[in-house]
Amino acid sequence: MASRRKFVAGNWKMHGSLADASALATAVSQGVSGLDNIDVVVCPVNVHISAVASVTQSTSVKLGAQNAHPAESGAFTGETSMAMLGELGCQYAIVGHSERRQLFGETDKAVAEKVEAALQQGITPILCIGETLDEREAGHLEKVIHAQLGEVLARVGIDALSKVVVAYEPVWAIGTGKTASPQQAQEVHAMIRARLACDNADIAASVQILYGGSVKPDNAADLFSQADIDGGLIGGAALDADSFTAICQAASAL
Ligand code: 13P
Repeated sequence: MASRRKFVAGNWKMHGSLADASALATAVSQGVSGLDNIDVVVCPVNVHISAVASVTQSTSVKLGAQNAHPAESGAFTGETSMAMLGELGCQYAIVGHSERRQLFGETDKAVAEKVEAALQQGITPILCIGETLDEREAGHLEKVIHAQLGEVLARVGIDALSKVVVAYEPVWAIGTGKTASPQQAQEVHAMIRARLACDNADIAASVQILYGGSVKPDNAADLFSQADIDGGLIGGAALDADSFTAICQAASAL
């Protein structure tokens, strides 16, 4: 079995002041220092990235953005390009989060364009996929996951997936306190890896696949110890340095 590093990313969403972001970054950097066997990434809002970068640049914590526009530059009022985020020190960008898909109308095609744009700028996309409760209950889980992955594979090709992190985030588990059970999550992670393996088994075995949706310190170890779960994309619990650090410690201990 391929050995994949555990990976924990904090999606801070649209929370906190500039001072809060710096303080959280400082506390997280201290909390995770020495956890050298895992990747730790924090994703603040764009306007906080520079301040957080000045805290994290001398630490092992890496920076990610929460979203970006696929174009390199142009007349796109209010948007930020991958290149601009890269200049600020972002090595990662969350792409296709379900909040972007649901609240801002991002389609599978738009998400695939963003994945391509990130890769062109040397930024690792954290590609979010996942089904709604309605889709799951209607028996459409596999169809939805395959469609979301398929659009990206058609655009960038399987070889590019070696530079992509995938995050499975069931929409019904985000911010609800209702976590997918480790078995439910593992089943979908295996499904994702199997879909990638149809195109290239070696790449499928090496891709880091994160679980996201109500991950907390008390359920992280059970989730992350599943065969195909390589870490987590953390929302609410990432806003508390102690909780986030505990989740990172759980990943590091496995
Ligand atoms: P919660 O951890 O708050 O459920 O959020 C998950 C998420 O959306 C991470 O991107």
